[in-house]
Amino acid sequence: MALVLFGITGDLSKKMLLPALHRLAETGQLKEPVVGVAKTDLGLDGLRAFARQAVGQDLSPHLDLRLVAGDLADHGTYERLRDQVNGLGHLTHYLAVPPSLFATVAKGVAAVGLNTGSRLVVEKPFGHDVESARQLNAELLTCFEEERLFRVDHYLGKEPVEDLIVFRFANTMLEPIWNRTYVRSVQITLAETFGVEDRGAFYDRVGALRDVVQNHLLQLLAYTAMDAPPSADARAVLDEKWRVLRSVRAVQESDVVRGQYEGYRDTPGVAKDSRTETFVALRATIDNWRWAGVPFCVRTGKCLPVDALEIVVELHRPPVAYFSARPAPNLLRFRMHPDAGVTFDLLAKELDVLDRTHEVAVSVDFATALGPAEAAYEQVLKDALAGDPRHFVRFDLVEESWRIVQDLLTSDVEPEPYAPGTWPEAASRIAPGGWHSVGATTGQRAAPGR
Ligand code: BG6
Repeated sequence: MALVLFGITGDLSKKMLLPALHRLAETGQLKEPVVGVAKTDLGLDGLRAFARQAVGQDLSPHLDLRLVAGDLADHGTYERLRDQVNGLGHLTHYLAVPPSLFATVAKGVAAVGLNTGSRLVVEKPFGHDVESARQLNAELLTCFEEERLFRVDHYLGKEPVEDLIVFRFANTMLEPIWNRTYVRSVQITLAETFGVEDRGAFYDRVGALRDVVQNHLLQLLAYTAMDAPPSADARAVLDEKWRVLRSVRAVQESDVVRGQYEGYRDTPGVAKDSRTETFVALRATIDNWRWAGVPFCVRTGKCLPVDALEIVVELHRPPVAYFSARPAPNLLRFRMHPDAGVTFDLLAKELDVLDRTHEVAVSVDFATALGPAEAAYEQVLKDALAGDPRHFVRFDLVEESWRIVQDLLTSDVEPEPYAPGTWPEAASRIAPGGWHSVGATTGQRAAPGR
């Protein structure tokens, strides 16, 4: 067995994959050699120096790195790869290359017979709309069977994301209230304080909807809303995710607000008159018996006031008010970043006042309770090497996710400008009752607001 990493000197490898491979090798979880494929011939020493820099420390002596240099459009590159991997057994080909090269590499690998018994792992984005995704898939399927195609969404490798389904299905207390009778709304937020930085040319063609909503955030929605699978096996979980995404109505323009932070158009690689959204808020509707009428509000953006990945489930208020002030609704918060954990915003009696309630947070930090979690890409790489499809995106899920946002992709609506470090005002109309504050650590939560 070996991992073939196409694009080993690229940005994703440098930032994510090489550090993850180093840690896996260091902890004895990666025994397979890693054969890097890169356009520039750095030589093995050069590659190790590059990897050391990426990792920020001496490279694990257990990381067995090898290198094949060559152009990915050149048949000779694949012939050299075939010679290099001779005798290593089954291969996992990981494509950390621009999407425009996915099909080229798959065909190159197949042309020298390196697809037989092997897997192909492809990064996001998978297509730029439903049609292009289908087209890409059809091309890849000419070289690899569906069971051997692994589409990465690194959010599925995040421990706190996986914990969402464990928390839901390992604790009896949630299921009875997990429906339209008790839940008033669900809010999913991915907020980042930084801008697009050196990714202007990529981001300007993509925007927030394609970059993180169609994939990461709809996957989170599926984990939050899906029914319990009939078994724990990967297929059963994927089937349930598909079933719930199938019930999500295609989002309409009237349920969307787009924003663009001031200064975005000055980013290198960004068009001076760009209409690309760096912020989007939308309201999704799930047409099934569990969730009919419950708004699922999703928002994400760059240059926002906080860094946070959080799901807030708001329950209906108690049906009868016994207290002088109307009690705040209970909130269940799944905090995935920073300080992963769960917080229930509940109500207790105000000291010395008989008929008044006071908000208290019942909270747990996973790092304190359970220890440090592995990085998402460690999980992704381990699963890819083990051939476990659980944390990858099956094609029918990709299709459903594109369908949900499809009507919004061709919009030429001018996004609302917002000052870096602020929430776009217009987004408040998307969440009935307003957005709940996110991003504060346990015990420091701001008063309800945005
Ligand atoms: C990537 C997007 O897929 O996910 C980035 O391209 C985004 O724009 C990133 O910043 C967020 O991932 P994470 O793991 O930092 O939450």
